[in-house]
Amino acid sequence: MTDQIRAPYVEGASDDVPTNDSGNVPFRVVAQRALSRRGFLGGSAALAASSALVGSVGTMVFAKNAAAASLGTLTFEALPHRYDETHHVAKGYDAEMLIRWGDAVVKGAPAFDPMKQSAAAQMLQFGYNNDFVGYTPLPYGSGNPARGLLCVNHEYVDRNIMFPGAADQDLKTQSKEMVDVEMAAHGHTVLEIARGAEGKWSVVADSAYNRRIHVGTEMRIAGPAAGHDRLKTSQDATGTRVLGTLNNCAGSITPWGTVLMAEENFNNYFAGDITKTKEARAYKRLGVAGDVGYGWYRFHDRFDVEKEPNEANRFGWMVEIDPYDPTSVPVKRTALGRFKHEGAHALVDKSGHVVCYGGDDQQFEYVYKFVSSRKYDAKDRKANSGILDEGTLYVARFNDDKTLDWLPIVFGEGPLTPANDFHSHADVLIETRRAADLVGATPMDRPEDVEPNLVTGVVYAVMTNNTKRKKDQLSAVNPRPANEHGHIVEMIPPGGRGADKDHTATRFTWDLFLLGGDPSKPEQGAKYHPAVGAGDWLSCPDNVAVDGKGRLWIATDGAPKAGIADGVWAADTEGDGRALVKLFFSTPRGAELCGPSFNTDDTAYFAAIQHPGDEKGSTFEKPSTRWPDFKPDMPPRPSVMVITKQGGGAIG
Ligand code: FEO
Ligand code: CA
Ligand code: CA
Ligand code: CA
Repeated sequence: MTDQIRAPYVEGASDDVPTNDSGNVPFRVVAQRALSRRGFLGGSAALAASSALVGSVGTMVFAKNAAAASLGTLTFEALPHRYDETHHVAKGYDAEMLIRWGDAVVKGAPAFDPMKQSAAAQMLQFGYNNDFVGYTPLPYGSGNPARGLLCVNHEYVDRNIMFPGAADQDLKTQSKEMVDVEMAAHGHTVLEIARGAEGKWSVVADSAYNRRIHVGTEMRIAGPAAGHDRLKTSQDATGTRVLGTLNNCAGSITPWGTVLMAEENFNNYFAGDITKTKEARAYKRLGVAGDVGYGWYRFHDRFDVEKEPNEANRFGWMVEIDPYDPTSVPVKRTALGRFKHEGAHALVDKSGHVVCYGGDDQQFEYVYKFVSSRKYDAKDRKANSGILDEGTLYVARFNDDKTLDWLPIVFGEGPLTPANDFHSHADVLIETRRAADLVGATPMDRPEDVEPNLVTGVVYAVMTNNTKRKKDQLSAVNPRPANEHGHIVEMIPPGGRGADKDHTATRFTWDLFLLGGDPSKPEQGAKYHPAVGAGDWLSCPDNVAVDGKGRLWIATDGAPKAGIADGVWAADTEGDGRALVKLFFSTPRGAELCGPSFNTDDTAYFAAIQHPGDEKGSTFEKPSTRWPDFKPDMPPRPSVMVITKQGGGAIG
């Protein structure tokens, strides 16, 4: 979700309001620690000489191009910064529309009519605010780069630019039909897509795989918290069945071809007085019923904590879906913990165990990993169903000496005992944040994507920003006060760089890959490859994708606050082009770039353009852009584009 200027309904939404008052280091740190400058851009020391090119701001843009062109493995010419009504892609590439909000997904979907929206139509059409995008080949395991399933999250809605007349209404006056459209516009879409003879990608209309998942879709709750009393409601005495999923931000495709989708800012959907529930402490830590952004509670009692006090405990989990079976019931995997999940990425470690990395996207929250008890079965796909239900959850403590300790979040260990009001592992998982506070995790600058680079074994943890961090709260891993531009941390399993790593280890090392902002303004403290100049920088890194060469494709959310459009920057992670960021794609105004991912041979790059036209004062009637249709009767539409190289070949 964006944290730039918001439509009035969600102003001040909870990813801007820290709820961590645990006192964890660095909150207790009084003196500002000196930062080691050495080893900062560890892999690029050879480039120190290039920094001599960086002179005055006026010459910098020119100088960087000359230096950058001969460095690294990326061959496209970087785009200039922009902020305008439409998207732009690097020269030599085509960006084509694949699917827009309202386009048909399921057989029988009516044509999109923004003036006559209905929940029944929306349940068959592509949802709003596409976020995570993942490609998995058809058939399963084939590696087919030209036909597959595209799995897309729909995180939230922008009411003011989505519905006619919405700008004149508020949560207390909107109709039930509008509420039900909103609920149908959330969730997930599975689409069969294929590349045609001329290299053009399209959605396979009426495919039996095509599916919409929304807030009314029945789901199962699995893992250690399933069936616990705190998950039982008047509608579900078993504590194992729940309707729907909320605020699905990022995600991933697992090695066994399922989708992991995150439930992020689920707290905004609940209203009522939490002090009238037994969950007041837990709800406060998560901001439940704090900033209410949705009027669903007026028509659906389960979103009112006073009427259904446990319903909010059934959200804030990771959800697993099998996109190859359109009748499969999605499952909430409670062993991965409960917080504002940005996403989760699973890999098969060399030991055979599955390791799953993830972040809690709020200021001063934490980075996590999960290690499965069972070993992955490469021969029997179905045998891996449930592998995420048993294992150990850890949270990261980043030490100032660049070591990283993974601290177990396990009932009965350390402080996670009845003395602290934990009576089972289910309790620990339901209140994962409080458990992580107690074990001494490091509060970070909004951990968004946490994604392993399978080529190098290094795990990238992306910190979007944290303007609330004060000078006395700095640590080596979060080195800037009022961090407006964000940064990217490398988490390195033991054994140096290389694919064959021990991701199950409880001690890693860490490094900083880059610090966002404008390197020509020293007061911003930005750090990249020295050849990155005033025309190249990025701000607010959010979601990343790693290509087959181990390069990082960095999508941003919030760069407009620094005066430039959000987009995708690519960079080498090793060698003489390390952290030399190049702008590849920029979004239309008001939008962020979400969920980038590649097909199996990197010849197609799928990019979600989320919340185009979401700016202050922008309305359905007068939006700040009508991207992508640019028709007078069409509002802006969140959409997924596919980017290909002209003449074919791998991207980058
Ligand atoms: Fe939904 Fe963390 O961005
Ligand atoms: Ca975001
Ligand atoms: Ca995000
Ligand atoms: Ca990602």
